[in-house]
Amino acid sequence: MVQATFHFPRGFLWGTATAAYQVEGNNINSNWYAWEQEPGRIIHGDKSGLACDWWNGRWREDFRRAAEGAQNAHRMSIEWSRVQPAPDRWDEQAIDRYVEMVRGLAELNMTPLITLHHFSDPVWFVEKGGWESEAAAGYFEKYVRKIVQALKDYAGLWCTINEPNGYAMNGFATGLFPPGKKNTGLAFKVMVNLVRAHAAAYHAIHQIQPQARVGMANYYRSLTSAKTWSPLDRLVTHLLAGFNDIFPSAATNGVVRFIAYRDRVPEAKGTQDFLGIDYYTRDYVKFNPFHIEELFGERFYRSDAELSTTGFLANEPLGMFEALKWGLKYNLPIIITENGFDDSEDRIRPRYMVEHIHQVWRAVNFNWAIKGYFHWTLVDNFEWERGWSQRFGLWELNLDTQARHKRPSADLYAEICRENGISDDMVRRYAPAAIPGLFPD
Ligand code: BGC
Repeated sequence: MVQATFHFPRGFLWGTATAAYQVEGNNINSNWYAWEQEPGRIIHGDKSGLACDWWNGRWREDFRRAAEGAQNAHRMSIEWSRVQPAPDRWDEQAIDRYVEMVRGLAELNMTPLITLHHFSDPVWFVEKGGWESEAAAGYFEKYVRKIVQALKDYAGLWCTINEPNGYAMNGFATGLFPPGKKNTGLAFKVMVNLVRAHAAAYHAIHQIQPQARVGMANYYRSLTSAKTWSPLDRLVTHLLAGFNDIFPSAATNGVVRFIAYRDRVPEAKGTQDFLGIDYYTRDYVKFNPFHIEELFGERFYRSDAELSTTGFLANEPLGMFEALKWGLKYNLPIIITENGFDDSEDRIRPRYMVEHIHQVWRAVNFNWAIKGYFHWTLVDNFEWERGWSQRFGLWELNLDTQARHKRPSADLYAEICRENGISDDMVRRYAPAAIPGLFPD
């Protein structure tokens, strides 16, 4: 029986990631709130409602849970529509509350990683043309300046925009997110404006806080050709994989590029101090002449893959290693800004967690500069168009009572964070099925 511990470097950041709209409740000035009221937009007609009730103060107990679980960092976001409910109005009380929350993290010895945009926009901003408008970056920069001024004494690690590639595609190409448009050309226009907004935010943050470290949470989808011998499968896989690079590469060289599309945003050159990676799963891709909107690619999971409760994700830990290897080309420190599994019964999550963190450890052992891991998420939350149907939390949430119930994964994660590593003993107790893969005899 092999006994061993996979250790991580000292100072490694261990945390969970959350997003304001998904946990705060009653964000009535957000475009998502309006979207929720439209029939057919959210599965089962679910509403975010009180969500995890953070805005009424339950962030305190949840931060305490995270700290007691030995997490030394937390990724949270600021809701723009709360801070600036109208173009000419700042809500100073809301800002004070965010200051209190971020100070709350510092008091618990947790490093805050602050996301400034996580899928949700103020209604007034959308009315002024939203991300389709060239004015977007200017509005965003003003809001960013206001927040960074307010939080700069407590936070120094910033994520400007969460998954801008996914956000643009969902809002403007597949139509799953507001504003629900289905126009790929428009999605590219939006991407360019998002790159401009990121760049403006990057420069503004550094002006206010020169020592800041600023990045984005880049959504990385691992894609493998269904038939490696098929040139068409390989071609569509290659084309789709280009989505992963649009933002990090624009933030490197100032060019927004995808297949034949090309646009220059010179101010975006060199605007990442770290590379954030959100990795969840891997797809197989085959050519399908009818899938025009997905560049003739059809994505699916391996037939023998372990799927999450709703079939939304497959447990594909090798994709994590691949994501980190992909990230090397940007020559930046890497933070895994999200990784998680929807699993209401916590049946597969412990295994998913150790297998993915094990891949991170492998990468660390190549001396790749990986600085932290944020699990998605702390407490079950409102999962966008999937409403409450998906349960990603280390803690289960009872929506009727707001009671939290600890899942075994929360204890496992606490042991990993406390140990700053994974031991065979932990894996035997929480995810014995992972033993042969991680600690072979
Ligand atoms: C998003 C989160 C979301 C999670 C799980 C990520 O793409 O950043 O907001 O809840 O996936 O669906």
